[in-house]
Amino acid sequence: DKGGWSSFMAKEVSEEPEAVANTLRGRIRDGAVAIPELEGLDDLFRDISRVIVVACGTAAYAGMVAKYAVEQWARVPVDVELAHEFRYRDPVIGPDTLVVSISQSGETMDTLMAVKYARERGAKTLSICNTQGATIPRESDAIVYTHAGPEVAVASTKAFVAQITALYLLALHIGQVRGAIAPDEVAAQIEEFEAVPGKIRRILETEQERIEQFAYWMADTRSVLFLGRHVGYPIALEGALKLKELAYIHAEGFAAGELKHGPIALIEPGQPVFVLVPSPRHSALLHAKVVSNIEEIRARGARVIAVAEEGDAAVLPKADEVLRIPLAGPLFEPLLSVVPLHIFAMGLSTAKGLDVDQPRNLAKSVTVE
Ligand code: F6R
Repeated sequence: DKGGWSSFMAKEVSEEPEAVANTLRGRIRDGAVAIPELEGLDDLFRDISRVIVVACGTAAYAGMVAKYAVEQWARVPVDVELAHEFRYRDPVIGPDTLVVSISQSGETMDTLMAVKYARERGAKTLSICNTQGATIPRESDAIVYTHAGPEVAVASTKAFVAQITALYLLALHIGQVRGAIAPDEVAAQIEEFEAVPGKIRRILETEQERIEQFAYWMADTRSVLFLGRHVGYPIALEGALKLKELAYIHAEGFAAGELKHGPIALIEPGQPVFVLVPSPRHSALLHAKVVSNIEEIRARGARVIAVAEEGDAAVLPKADEVLRIPLAGPLFEPLLSVVPLHIFAMGLSTAKGLDVDQPRNLAKSVTVE
């Protein structure tokens, strides 16, 4: 039931605030992270020396975002691997390796096979999954469910923000168990976390119509590029994936620092480029780097659509359009900046008269390898 929305995707994007709130619920106690499902597993988290995330598509991008949090808060090194690549080399894994799988459906065959392979090699496995009782969590030593609610549209949206939420909780949990993060630091992150649903709601309220209008004007666009740095990089990849699958156009995401190593040759007059701009409050250096990337592509005629925090005045004169997100802590920006990109992909697909819920050639659950 679309509940009055024009598509399941529109409904599910509108549920992104609840996906975060519901995934947090019951997992925070007295200013600390307490995940009931992980009780009794402290030794497991103490004994690991590395984490490997395995997932596909959008779920893999959630893993790329979470890498920053697990390394910062838990001080455990993280590699993120596409599940279908993992098995076909000879990965160095053993009992000190925690393999974290991420899957909305819990049935993705590529991810399931990676989990089974990891178990056979003696690694510990933990599943981040949105579907109670699905195959992947059943094959894993531990489970942290995302509570995004059923996702019907083929393109994953609310599950993505729920996955990042669950992974961040896991990062804080591991950090607490290992004593890698101070209690007041955990409390500060929890405070950030609790503000996220309201901030996503604000983006939906203030920017959605504008972005849809803007997508409508861009209906003839044949290629869109996305640039990001740090946690903005996986969000650039996610923005591009959504445009490919929903609007059937060429779209590519890059780490902004890669521009001068090749991709800048793609920039010709009129080329639309989305740029995820990190807050200048967190790192003046990172912000300045991205602003200078904007200048480089703009000088070559790119049409720049910046996603930047409210009040970032430096971006305004340099970009053709600025989509605003509320202020948030450095690791929390992705939970906000992805929302305009989801809206844009949905808007462009709709503007082209396509079926946003059922893009061609794709299935919601990919149960073949
Ligand atoms: C993109 C998308 C896919 C899935 C991927 C993994 O919008 O939906 O890339 O994220 O197929 O699916 P799950 O999470 O079910 O394992």
